[in-house]
Amino acid sequence: MKALVLAGGKGTRLRPFTYSMAKQLVPVANTPVLTHCLENIRSIGVREVAVVVGGGEVEIQSVIGDGADLGLEITYLVQDSPLGLAHCVRIAADFLGDDDFVMYLGDNVVADGIGEAAERFRAQRPDAQVLVAKVDDPRQYGVVEVDHDGRVHLLAEKPLHPRSDLAIVGVYFFTAAVHEAVADLRPSHRGELEITDALQWLVNRGRVVTASDYPGYWRDIGSADGLLDCNRVLLQRVTAAVRGRVDSTSTVRGEVVVEEGAVVTGSELVGPLVIGAGAVVNGSHLGPFTSVGPGCLIEDSTISDSILLDGAQVFGARELRRSLIGRWAKVGTGGGGAGRMLIGDHSLAQVIA
Ligand code: G1P
Repeated sequence: MKALVLAGGKGTRLRPFTYSMAKQLVPVANTPVLTHCLENIRSIGVREVAVVVGGGEVEIQSVIGDGADLGLEITYLVQDSPLGLAHCVRIAADFLGDDDFVMYLGDNVVADGIGEAAERFRAQRPDAQVLVAKVDDPRQYGVVEVDHDGRVHLLAEKPLHPRSDLAIVGVYFFTAAVHEAVADLRPSHRGELEITDALQWLVNRGRVVTASDYPGYWRDIGSADGLLDCNRVLLQRVTAAVRGRVDSTSTVRGEVVVEEGAVVTGSELVGPLVIGAGAVVNGSHLGPFTSVGPGCLIEDSTISDSILLDGAQVFGARELRRSLIGRWAKVGTGGGGAGRMLIGDHSLAQVIA
């Protein structure tokens, strides 16, 4: 089996972060979302992976490289314009050949892995298998209607009037049968070749498409709130490890990771919490549910339920919660008695009145 990872898209709902980085590289629990995805792929025994990239091409390659660190062989394919998920399958046709493959949307966090679904696909080998989960608002997703035996008979992409509450999770297993479907597709009303339409094409021709229930935590990191929720969940899976230096005037409670070269003084650390390599924390209360990226600098601050990206600095912030602070951004007091902000496009700042 091979893997096809889709890492294009503009990430408009994650602005301003996506102005300067691919959304799949935004870190959750200090690890890029794309790395979580690639680890799940490796854990089902797949080695050959094609990553389809759009604009973020160079940056993604510089972070993930050839995949050797993850035990993978990664090939990069470029999608020049966002013409849909099924279009990515077309682009990857030569790479995939006649092999079965798992297609994985690189902005999806599937926290409990895809092992069970992969086993079911390998055992039953339908023409295609989608991962599905019950959701509150199916209108934001691909939606399937399933027979009692788990066979899919109807699919719709983001329907206004969903006929079930079963959403398609961004992980699909395919046999080579999908290539014929994809080759025959016409663009949808939003001008894209929809993978949902390719699946319906298979169903309409009597091919076997099944749904595999995914009971664990799943979310696409589309928005800031989605990202913070994923961060909470993935942090709950970390195991305490203090590799950096925490001085004797600091306290550590719960699952706390302090990476190498990080220095913590006079602070209270409450897990789950990760502090990246080389970060400096002084006189602060951090956590729970907080990821502090490498090289961050935090002084006299209280931060919980937040993500600080690489090199962010926070000074004298009394209570920061559910915050996302971008790379090398500075947040703090000062400004000569008045507030002062240098805020980029699509940023959000809430000051204490
Ligand atoms: C895509 C798929 C949709 C699926 C979703 C899962 O939508 O088209 O069927 O349910 O991913 O994240 P997107 O959110 O990329 O528009």
